[in-house]
Amino acid sequence: MAKAIRLHETGGPEVLRVEDVEVGDPGPGQVRVRHSYVAVNFIDIYFRTGRYPLPLPNGLGSDAVGVVEAVGAGVTAVRAGDRVGYLMGPQGAYSDVRLMPAEFLIPLPDGISDRTAATLMMKGMTVQYLFRQVFPLHGDETILYHAAAGGVGLIACQWARAMGVRMIGTVSTDEKAAIAKANGCEHVIVTSRENIAQRVREITDGKGVPVVYDSVGKDTLEASLDSLQPRGSLVSNGTSSGPVVIDTMQLAAKGSIWVTRPAMMHYIMPREHMLKMADELFGHVLAGHITSEPKQVFALADAADAHRALESRATVGATVLVP
Ligand SMILES: NC(=O)c1ccc[n+]([C@@H]2O[C@H](COP(=O)([O-])OP(=O)(O)OC[C@H]3O[C@@H](n4cnc5c(N)ncnc54)[C@H](OP(=O)(O)O)[C@@H]3O)[C@@H](O)[C@H]2O)c1
Repeated sequence: MAKAIRLHETGGPEVLRVEDVEVGDPGPGQVRVRHSYVAVNFIDIYFRTGRYPLPLPNGLGSDAVGVVEAVGAGVTAVRAGDRVGYLMGPQGAYSDVRLMPAEFLIPLPDGISDRTAATLMMKGMTVQYLFRQVFPLHGDETILYHAAAGGVGLIACQWARAMGVRMIGTVSTDEKAAIAKANGCEHVIVTSRENIAQRVREITDGKGVPVVYDSVGKDTLEASLDSLQPRGSLVSNGTSSGPVVIDTMQLAAKGSIWVTRPAMMHYIMPREHMLKMADELFGHVLAGHITSEPKQVFALADAADAHRALESRATVGATVLVP
């Protein structure tokens, strides 16, 4: 029997309980993957609480790495014994072994350990699509990036540095500020004691920034709009503090601001494109531009504690579960 965390109801972290499940052999187009690490992402909290609806009961998690144990009929993309990771596909990553559609699997290069890869699949691919596709950066920009010491954030700091982009990052504590700085964030604003928009104007000689990547949402919306240049872009890529409601008249008043709310699924497929995105990410890691290790490690059975840590802002960088 396999072990999996399945949601029977939405709610607090206590709804995350381990169960025995039957996995069986992979069907056509499927692969059985044994996980070495399962990544925890903020989106898992949105599903757990019901903010993003899921039919119940259901598995949870969409981001893990491991080894292919068996492949079903018609699978040519991977073979038994291959090391793989994934960040898309059906929920159910919070488990030790599971079936996955082969189309979502990304082979891992030899030079990148499972432990590192577990911090990269969702979080690194998010930075790829934010910086290279949603609002493509060229290297001469100064940008505002919220939650710079988070799981996605620490990779963003390093990717920005590798591109020559000056990142102004926000964090809630001095300890997180030091970590973001050490990862390449040029200017750090500590939100518990500094005014975000005012500091951005000081740093940019009053000009503001051309783009804000805002995953915090409700609490930072106003500051994000006030930090932008006229005709600047707000990339609203998450809602860690709560949903964002925008009055379009406000966008006119703040300088004819562009807003997008991107979702990974619209930037990642088809598979060949996903593999190219992963190549670029892995290239930065293999070249030493990005180094990434889990900062919080929990047993799979303690997933509830991992969620408590993430949603209470007690984490830095990536959080993983070990089955
Ligand atoms: N659109 C997409 O495709 C996509 C893909 C991946 C991730 N995301 C989004 O990117 C964000 C980062 O994801 P992650 O997994 O790496 O999480 P994370 O950044 O490690 O954790 C969230 C961070 O947000 C900050 N935060 C500010 N207000 C908060 C609040 N009220 N509650 C909780 N956190 C708050 C905290 O940093 P401070 O303490 O420093 O403020 C916290 O550590 C999430 O919003 C996620 O949904 C979006």
